[in-house]
Amino acid sequence: MKNMIQVEEVHKYYDIGSVKVHALRGLDFTVKKGEKVAVMGPSGCGKTTLLNCLSSLDDISEGKVSIAGRNIMEMSDDEKTEMRALEMGFVFQFYNLLPVLTAVENVELPLLLAGRAKNARTRAEKALKIVGLGNRMDHRPSALSGGERQRVTIARAIVNEPNIIWADEPTGDLDTVTSQKIMDILDILNEKIGHTMVLVTHEREIAERAERIVHMESGVIKREEFME
Ligand SMILES: Nc1ncnc2c1ncn2[C@@H]1O[C@H](COP(=O)(O)OP(=O)(O)OP(=O)(O)O)[C@@H](O)[C@H]1O
Ligand SMILES: [Mg+2]
Repeated sequence: MKNMIQVEEVHKYYDIGSVKVHALRGLDFTVKKGEKVAVMGPSGCGKTTLLNCLSSLDDISEGKVSIAGRNIMEMSDDEKTEMRALEMGFVFQFYNLLPVLTAVENVELPLLLAGRAKNARTRAEKALKIVGLGNRMDHRPSALSGGERQRVTIARAIVNEPNIIWADEPTGDLDTVTSQKIMDILDILNEKIGHTMVLVTHEREIAERAERIVHMESGVIKREEFME
């Protein structure tokens, strides 16, 4: 099977004044097309940094990251922006919904930004129906519950039918039942669309739903655990 994500000897340094943080310290791993991988590890070990670097939101300091066979270090900013818009979906907590837009407008936004205005509204509505929010299309985020907002974020992440979904603690603020529902939605989509998924979570139960758990510690992968 083809490698969707290939990471070789990746280092990431942050420079803040006199303090240099070595956030990723020589990471190696691969994720196959359609595979679902969970990343776990203590706070500050570099999970979010890893997601930001692999998804090209942030630049790596050393090493190589290939997405679908392309070396992202050799891509221009415009190419990376286009890759993110057309091929990737993000379920990040800080990727907030825009408060002035309704649910359906938030979901159709990536399509408009990617220059895919044709049928954008219909596709956004379809994505919201998939996550069970067909009856909340015209609600603004402030008129939605936390779990509903997170489902809008998922709808927005899948509306482009991306090859890769990056999820950073997608169920972080939610109760157990709602978390399970959100994960069910992501799993069903994974089976249906066959996208590759990299999911950061602190919850063992959530991580066990992946095919593999990557355990990070202080910027390196300590071990990989394969699920049955
Ligand atoms: N923009 C930044 N500038 C400087 N240092 C940063 C920056 N972002 C993260 N760091 C540092 O890099 C390290 C890794 O941070 P990161 O956010 O990747 O951790 P994390 O594993 O996602 O933690 P958490 O579970 O708390 O979200 C931390 O020591 C953090 O302080
Ligand atoms: Mg984090």
